[in-house]
Amino acid sequence: MIIRILTLFPEMFEGPMGSSIVQRGKDKGLLDIACINIRDYADNKHKKVDDYPYGGGAGMVMTPQPIFDCHEAVTKAFGEGKRPRTIYMTPKGRHFNQAMAGELSQEQELIFLCGHYEGIDQRVIDNLVTDELSIGDYVLTGGELAAMVVIDAVARLIPGVLSQSESYEEESIQSGLLEYPHYTRPSSFRDMDIPEVLISGNHKNIDLWRRKMALRLTLERRPDLLENFPLTKQDKKLLEAIKDEAQKKD
Ligand code: ADE
Repeated sequence: MIIRILTLFPEMFEGPMGSSIVQRGKDKGLLDIACINIRDYADNKHKKVDDYPYGGGAGMVMTPQPIFDCHEAVTKAFGEGKRPRTIYMTPKGRHFNQAMAGELSQEQELIFLCGHYEGIDQRVIDNLVTDELSIGDYVLTGGELAAMVVIDAVARLIPGVLSQSESYEEESIQSGLLEYPHYTRPSSFRDMDIPEVLISGNHKNIDLWRRKMALRLTLERRPDLLENFPLTKQDKKLLEAIKDEAQKKD
């Protein structure tokens, strides 16, 4: 996958995009990520990239010319006829989730556009942007951190980036439930013992315990996820037990 990030702050990406799983994807030749500085494409003497909003109001708006030219150069480099997904990070966008990460991980090329100031000229959005994405209901100072979140979530889903042992099949959200708790050695630490079932050697019971923990956590923290979840007969029984136990506690 080729990812190009159009930004006014390329230096922000140096740490996160140069380490961990993203770096591994790059080392394995599965990922090619580069930042392009929008300012380099400003055709005015002072390399100005923003201006006052028409109609008045607070803040500045990023001007269309450097973004159009920058986007054109990047798209051209991908080859004739390519119209890559161009993702604009904005709190006004659709909420990013794991399903979208999966969908984006199938693309061969992605362009991320990071805005600053009050936003970007609407003509950029109308003509170049294919997706507007938000990472949550809060306002960041720019789209850079949001783009890094999306890129990290997408990169780890590209086949071959994660090793078998890092398999993400059972992970939180991926399965539709929040994940059960994990424990490692020692089995007793400062008088805190791990749940006995985990050292019982009975894998059926271990699976059942994990399923119950996942259902309990999801019920407590994200009951909305259970609304669309295809509960099995056993899940329903476990949920009843969980609710009974909670009632007894109260
Ligand atoms: N830019 C500023 N805030 C943002 C958010 N919450 N999500 C995506 N992009 C943003």
